[in-house]
Amino acid sequence: MVAARWNCFSFQLVFAISFIFSIAEVCNGGRTSSFVRNSDLSRDMPLDSDVFRVPPGYNAPQQVHITQGDHLGNAVIVSWVTPDEPGSNSVFYWAENSELKNSAQGIVLTYKYFNYTSGFIHHCTVRDLEFDTKYYYEVGIGNSSRRFWFVTPPAIGPDVPYTFGLIGDLGQTHDSNSTLTHYELNPAKGQTLLFLGDLSYADAYPFHDNARWDTWGRFIERNAAYQPWIWTAGNHEIDVVPAIREAIPFKPYTHRYHVPYTASGSTSPLWYSIKRASTYIIVLSSYSAYGTSTPQYKWLERELPKVNRTETPWLIVLMHSPFYNSYVHHYMEGESMRVMFEPWFVEYKVDVVFAGHVHAYERSVSSHPLF
Ligand SMILES: *[C@@H]1O[C@H](CO)[C@@H](O)[C@H](O)[C@H]1NC(C)=O
Ligand SMILES: *[C@@H]1O[C@H](CO)[C@@H](O)[C@H](O)[C@H]1NC(C)=O
Ligand SMILES: *[C@@H]1O[C@H](CO)[C@@H](O)[C@H](O)[C@H]1NC(C)=O
Ligand SMILES: *[C@@H]1O[C@H](CO)[C@@H](O)[C@H](O)[C@H]1NC(C)=O
Ligand SMILES: [Fe+2]
Repeated sequence: MVAARWNCFSFQLVFAISFIFSIAEVCNGGRTSSFVRNSDLSRDMPLDSDVFRVPPGYNAPQQVHITQGDHLGNAVIVSWVTPDEPGSNSVFYWAENSELKNSAQGIVLTYKYFNYTSGFIHHCTVRDLEFDTKYYYEVGIGNSSRRFWFVTPPAIGPDVPYTFGLIGDLGQTHDSNSTLTHYELNPAKGQTLLFLGDLSYADAYPFHDNARWDTWGRFIERNAAYQPWIWTAGNHEIDVVPAIREAIPFKPYTHRYHVPYTASGSTSPLWYSIKRASTYIIVLSSYSAYGTSTPQYKWLERELPKVNRTETPWLIVLMHSPFYNSYVHHYMEGESMRVMFEPWFVEYKVDVVFAGHVHAYERSVSSHPLF
């Protein structure tokens, strides 16, 4: 039944879970790559690597990335960092084959983390876009402005084919670069990336050196500036270190990666939903409270009945820590959330739950949902 539905919507999912290359064409009923990872842990790419290069020009925008900006896919949040001064908050954008340049105004913010001060982090929501249209956009001023493009998704509907990629636990090692390259070169051509948490691993450095959040932003720009990355928070986004008085969870992550959470009635950027093409995607936070009557629990309780399966037949849930995992590491870490939420996933017939965290590939065979 599950396999038949995958077939009839020719919905291809590219799994590119970090540190391994796992390609599974779920629509064929399942084929897993023969890839076996190297037994040595890959090292982080050095600071002078090509992938971390700062774009030329005074105060040139860097770390450009986009995500969906509303509930339906007619808006995009464009985010970037200017290193020297705030500069401009504007995004100029125009549809391909259109002379008319529009502009949207965003916001700029900064944050401090121990002895690190961020650059100027810009977030600008570009709204009222046409579906299924290529747009060019520009950020920055004068001769250091930079131009990118994205394609909006088709209008929401049951028979709208769309291709998602999946990456989790990316980091910034040499293997991370291979993983991203592998995704870029995949013939299935992912149109939007579902990111399953654990972004930069900056927290692996002394004092959680936030300069490694900047290098990561520059590394992923080559893809994330051109297609939306749908963000999920993982444990490496928590960044709480009481010893250096860093007590606010998710501080670097929530300053740098904005998501359209208010559009789904959420009170936190850590859990939210979007619709895209034929899918309804619910993002949950493994590291926020989810017990009875917590904000995440109450939001999900109200959210699931809103999904209209005639309009969006695919109901997908993203989270960082998996409900099921037979690996030696992180065994049963997702168990308490499973106890709370799995009955709802069954009741509301969630199709598939994607998770990261465990750097080894596994999937269930014929359960509903598919984990
Ligand atoms: C932050 O403090 C650490 C430890 O004293 C030091 O190694 C590092 O260079 C400092 N970083 C900045 C940006 O000042
Ligand atoms: C870029 O513009 C600035 C200010 O207008 C100017 O001082 C600088 O020489 C220009 N650089 C190049 C490479 O054109
Ligand atoms: C990362 O991969 C790209 C190919 O996609 C390559 O051009 C680049 O040199 C690689 N950089 C490093 C540091 O491995
Ligand atoms: C569900 O979506 C379909 C197709 O868009 C629409 O005709 C129907 O009215 C919707 N149902 C509800 C309860 O909103
Ligand atoms: Fe993790």
